[in-house]
Amino acid sequence: MTQGLGLKRALAERFHDELKFFKGWIHSPKAVGSIIPTSSVTARKMAAVINPASGLPVLEVGPGTGVITRAILERGVRPSDLFTVEYSPEFVRHLRGLYPDVHVIEGDAFDLRSALADYQDTVFDCVISGIPLLNFPAARRVAYLEGLLDRIPRGRPVIQLTYGPMSPIPPGRGDYQVEHFRFVVRNIPPTQLWVYRRGGH
Ligand SMILES: C[S@@+](CC[C@H](N)C(=O)[O-])C[C@H]1O[C@@H](n2cnc3c(N)ncnc32)[C@H](O)[C@@H]1O
Repeated sequence: MTQGLGLKRALAERFHDELKFFKGWIHSPKAVGSIIPTSSVTARKMAAVINPASGLPVLEVGPGTGVITRAILERGVRPSDLFTVEYSPEFVRHLRGLYPDVHVIEGDAFDLRSALADYQDTVFDCVISGIPLLNFPAARRVAYLEGLLDRIPRGRPVIQLTYGPMSPIPPGRGDYQVEHFRFVVRNIPPTQLWVYRRGGH
């Protein structure tokens, strides 16, 4: 009986998240990119790149309803060590309600200098990015990546999800290496995970 109630609550929560996400997509299809949130399987695979023992904070970009945020916290990152940058005020409100101790910053991932103005010298362990990059020209995607890599130690990863078959950031256009990390079928639509880093592990 209690188990049945727990399942109903979990399903209601999931449906609530998907509805919120879908509404976000209606208002801003290009920015949200997909009509439903990333699966928990994908979220866990992305969070797996974090080194919780580094003692460094983690940067998440484009958290949406917070599926990946949850996986990052479950990986052992303290809420006060997690910084997220989200464009949509509605998602920001939702995330602040869910995770009051996470630094939920309302801002533009393509202008991190402003979004992270109060944390310019902060070094992050790694970056988890859910921004739909394919809507932007390649030069902008490269500049986006280089801006993220500038904020983490050499050798540490920026992980990015995408629905296309190729790396959304082309190799050979800057100071970074491209590595195909995972293809996740248990996601709607199935997704590719790519990792980018600078040499010098
Ligand atoms: C494809 S959704 C991913 C959401 C969530 N991480 C997930 O995996 O379910 C993209 C998210 O990035 C946000 N976003 C898009 N462009 C952005 C930008 N320039 N700066 C910050 N957030 C942005 C959208 O509002 C949306 O929440």
